[in-house]
Amino acid sequence: MIEVTRNNCSDIIHSMAKVVVFANQKGGVGKTTTTVNIGAYMAEAGKKVLLVDFDPQGNLSSSLGIRDTDNSVYEVLLGQISVKKAVQQTPQKGMDILPSNLNLSGATVELGKVDKKDSLQFLKKALSPIRDSYDYILIDCPPSLGVLTINGFVAADTVLIPLQCEYFALEGLKYMYSMTIKRIQKSVNPALKIGGIIFTMYDSRTNLGKEVIKSVSDSFRQHPEMVFSTVIPRNIRLSEAPSHGVPINLYDRNCIGAKCYEKLTGEVIKRV
Ligand SMILES: Nc1ncnc2c1ncn2[C@@H]1O[C@H](COP(=O)(O)OP(=O)(O)OP(=O)(O)O)[C@@H](O)[C@H]1O
Ligand SMILES: [Mg+2]
Repeated sequence: MIEVTRNNCSDIIHSMAKVVVFANQKGGVGKTTTTVNIGAYMAEAGKKVLLVDFDPQGNLSSSLGIRDTDNSVYEVLLGQISVKKAVQQTPQKGMDILPSNLNLSGATVELGKVDKKDSLQFLKKALSPIRDSYDYILIDCPPSLGVLTINGFVAADTVLIPLQCEYFALEGLKYMYSMTIKRIQKSVNPALKIGGIIFTMYDSRTNLGKEVIKSVSDSFRQHPEMVFSTVIPRNIRLSEAPSHGVPINLYDRNCIGAKCYEKLTGEVIKRV
């Protein structure tokens, strides 16, 4: 008879990945840059990470050197391939990716053919066969609050919100919270947590960045944990890394952008 002790029990039971979605309906605020670099530093810390490119633009995929693949999340959606077949390795050891391609923009049509509730559950269901193979699954969303981003909210345990330090930041945030996240929490995913706001592209030479951080932080005075203390600066090396097909740690790990993403990842691991 096999004696089940505490130790061999924990060997048998794999914990499910924590699923984190990076979302903001505003374009170009650093969602993709934040997803790939947090993923890379999680993997460096020994975590097994899956990135999910859920944006038809495919920026997350191309930032890791994957372009025009026929084995993407869209083919998974059509039922043409299994999710395991679509997952690819990345240049970062311990970090895989479920890539996207432009066809995903047609997903709105495909998803429109199924029942409304099913259309919102597609990504959650697609990830379920591989959820226990990873410690973290990080989902990068398109700049909209359409069916793809909502699939991200339904699949996730936690939403993280990259926020560019610029004038309309707070208005967009309020809209996303009241019009989307709150509704998702009330209906399809009551367990969805807001993990916090990540300030990106901070420019220390202007007053605007400081003012935006202050006004957003002030509006969360009652919940200071809603704002990550590591602020990501504007750093040219961060914008160069994608064209080399690697995350920042493999491009220039000593630049200020790399140091900040490494520190931010430590905060995210503690909090998510
Ligand atoms: N901290 C930074 N410093 C300098 N450039 C940055 C920084 N973060 C992102 N960028 C650059 O800004 C552009 C937009 O960033 P990114 O693609 O990550 O935003 P996004 O929110 O994913 O955009 P989209 O909404 O189109 O998906 C990219 O060219 C990226 O390389
Ligand atoms: Mg993006």
